[in-house]
Amino acid sequence: MALKAGIIMLQKADLHILENKFSYENDPFRLHYHPMPPIGWMNDPNGLVCFNGIAHLFFQFYPYEACNGSKHWGHLTSSNLVDWCYNKTVIAPDMPYDASGCYSGTAIAHKDKLYLLYTGHVEGKSAGQLPVEVQCLAESSDGINFSKYERNPVIYPRAEFDWNFRDPKVWRHEDRFYCILGNCEGGHGRVLLYSSPDLISWKYVGVMLESDGSQGFMWECPDFFSLDGQDILLLSPEGMENKRHSTIYMVGSLDYATGRFTPKATHTLDDGNEFYAPQTFEYKGMRVLVGWMDKWFSQMPTQEYGWAGAMTFPRVLNLTAEGLLTMEPIASIEDIRKEGIFHRGVVLKDGFNPLSNVKAVAMEFKCSIDLDASKGEQLVIGIRENGDKSQGTYIKVLLKEQLVVVDKTKSGLGDSYVQTTPIKPCHGNSLDIRVLVDTSSVEVLINKGTTAVTNRIYPDVGSNCFSLSAVGGEILLSEMECFTLGRNKVTYEI
Ligand code: FRU
Repeated sequence: MALKAGIIMLQKADLHILENKFSYENDPFRLHYHPMPPIGWMNDPNGLVCFNGIAHLFFQFYPYEACNGSKHWGHLTSSNLVDWCYNKTVIAPDMPYDASGCYSGTAIAHKDKLYLLYTGHVEGKSAGQLPVEVQCLAESSDGINFSKYERNPVIYPRAEFDWNFRDPKVWRHEDRFYCILGNCEGGHGRVLLYSSPDLISWKYVGVMLESDGSQGFMWECPDFFSLDGQDILLLSPEGMENKRHSTIYMVGSLDYATGRFTPKATHTLDDGNEFYAPQTFEYKGMRVLVGWMDKWFSQMPTQEYGWAGAMTFPRVLNLTAEGLLTMEPIASIEDIRKEGIFHRGVVLKDGFNPLSNVKAVAMEFKCSIDLDASKGEQLVIGIRENGDKSQGTYIKVLLKEQLVVVDKTKSGLGDSYVQTTPIKPCHGNSLDIRVLVDTSSVEVLINKGTTAVTNRIYPDVGSNCFSLSAVGGEILLSEMECFTLGRNKVTYEI
């Protein structure tokens, strides 16, 4: 009976997608090379995994409206992380334990099967009827069709836990599985650790880490992985530094014997206004990150076209000798490059604009500033400007102050603001900038992404000009590259 109801909800969702996916023509904001929902609402990336030789990107999905509704898991697959195939919706909120939503979680391959561990969320329970959030399992042999475990939930919260108890991230270490969950206590975010021999019976290990008091009231979507012998904990705290939503990472070490994580350093991952709930996975020997390229409470002008939310372009992570995470677009971005310009030794002065011939809605820009040879105060990159510059998004790199400012006051539709982010200290005399622009997004990655700012912009289609200028003196770019970008391939297997 329950199984039948489940299949009906999934079929209904897929039918809705098939009937409506092409109904939004002339949509100026539909992205050319970023993952986005076929229709409806997308938030967090879920269950990033490689299974049977392809990459799977599941996501928080409400197919029926471009707003936050009861969550299903949508499913994209890819063989190069640029081209994407929409597959059937994998799970729907059709059980008593997930009736208000199948919230975020993980996918993990084990013994030829693919397992999903996700949060079942049920609204409207009174205090006596806790839990509101529990952890549930689903499994699949082909990575496409999933069935929920008949004895779900597999993890209940302890009686003393706050009801916020979600977003399991599972990994394997030696012969056991480990799972971390976002939780809070007394107004402070924390991460709980569980372990299991088989993904079904879970043992509570303890609190892996709690906020030091300045890191928000709730930690959502924790992720954990190791790079170069260091353990890294990724968190999406709510309520940190007067920001409703932030993303941070901590480099340190997890003691599997005690279950405690000891952070050595904490950094912002991406300071952008539209970046949240990132997750990572191992892809062809690399650690790759994808984040939700939108955020709760941001204006979403795409709603008018029947969809909302997208994912960042996949980023490869590495660790510097100083313990900073670098984030660089995966190399297969080269597959969609079209026309390119390349210059060495460009001196920016007297209104010379090396980007004056670039006309595009999607492009990639890279440059290295020679700091010793540059007397100028600011490098200003104009993005998606119109002819009279009454529209444009401006990225200003303040060389002395070591700040990056994103000015969205003339960007078109959507939120209007100026956002300032400190550039993390780097050694050497050059500062590298990389910018990915799509029809409705700008990802700024400074010094290999050790500083990152991701925002959505909603300019007119006709605003397709770009500019580069120096303010307060000359700036020497030791190298500069710019490519217009084409569209990725998008297919449907629903
Ligand atoms: C983060 C989040 C998660 C939750 C999901 C619900 O954006 O709030 O904590 O699982 O979204 O869609």
